[in-house]
Amino acid sequence: MTTPFEYITRELHPDPCTSTALLYDDMDSQSGRSLPIIYEPFDAARKAHWQDRGALFDFLLTTCGEGKRLLDFGPGDGWPSLIVAPFAAEVVGVDGSARRVSVCQENARRMGIANATFVHVPPGMMLPFEDGSFDGILAASSVEQTPDPHATLAELYRVLKHGGRLRIRYEALGRYRGGHEEDAWLLPLDAGRCRLILYDRHVREERVSQVGLTFALPAAMLCQALDVPDRHALRFHDITVAHLQQLRPALREARLCQTVHPSGRTYHRFLREVGFQVVSPTHDGSHAAGELFDALPPASRPRDLAGVDAILRPIVEIITRLPAPVEGDPMMTAIKD
Ligand SMILES: C[S@@+](CC[C@H](N)C(=O)[O-])C[C@H]1O[C@@H](n2cnc3c(N)ncnc32)[C@H](O)[C@@H]1O
Repeated sequence: MTTPFEYITRELHPDPCTSTALLYDDMDSQSGRSLPIIYEPFDAARKAHWQDRGALFDFLLTTCGEGKRLLDFGPGDGWPSLIVAPFAAEVVGVDGSARRVSVCQENARRMGIANATFVHVPPGMMLPFEDGSFDGILAASSVEQTPDPHATLAELYRVLKHGGRLRIRYEALGRYRGGHEEDAWLLPLDAGRCRLILYDRHVREERVSQVGLTFALPAAMLCQALDVPDRHALRFHDITVAHLQQLRPALREARLCQTVHPSGRTYHRFLREVGFQVVSPTHDGSHAAGELFDALPPASRPRDLAGVDAILRPIVEIITRLPAPVEGDPMMTAIKD
């Protein structure tokens, strides 16, 4: 029996593209406007908001970034640049998507942040900075979205100062084992168009084929055609070849983006290969913050941002120095001696 991916390859001949053309250039908000402080007032009663502060102190402390000049590679909606900026001398965000850069600039302006700037660098281009331009680099779920993660890490190494640190968070594919190797997601584009994204994850080979099918239909009509109540209920197995054949008259564009998603072990090797002398997989501050939130009875949790920061900062400082097994795909700190 023909699978949806086989049908798409044979019949729809998708055009190769980058992740920015597949997704990021067409998203109003890459985070669904869910980021604490950037889009929502900080709420000390919410675990996700503690986790966000945990992530902030993770990036800030592991890079020794306080009062320094930092690079945020692939900031999306300005994360973590815009929450790190109040602690740094300067943050420069570089993103492969022009749309993301203008969203970051608009968020910085709205938040009154003057020491964060954002630069568009098309995928595959060298970064427009001299060697050794930054004291520290933050990369959150972005390196594996570039056409060549190994080459991207080499560029990050080049623009980092000697003695500087890179802290990297990434999406390894192990988490999708056992049922999410094939996935589907529906992105509304405007009132009359939506894009169906299908993921074919090859966990062992550490690569993903992502297909984007743009239809001249509102998202709700596409859901009706697929017999799902709304886009959040959509699963890969709801989509059949018969559906794709039936929807073909409304298809306007088919694209294919191939990405490499290194596991922790592969990232470790890549980081060493591009020149980092020390690469340390460690526990992460965001996870620790969430655990602490759960461990504290609600009445004993701090109730404001200053109180949460005061309790999290020393814990994150310790946690992020503790080695974590590389098999668990932990965050990593890489040092350029
Ligand atoms: C999954 S999002 C992560 C955004 C943000 N760091 C976060 O964690 O919320 C990936 C980001 O990487 C950016 N990106 C993709 N390819 C890139 C490239 N070649 N150079 C720089 N940024 C790129 C995307 O545009 C997007 O903003």
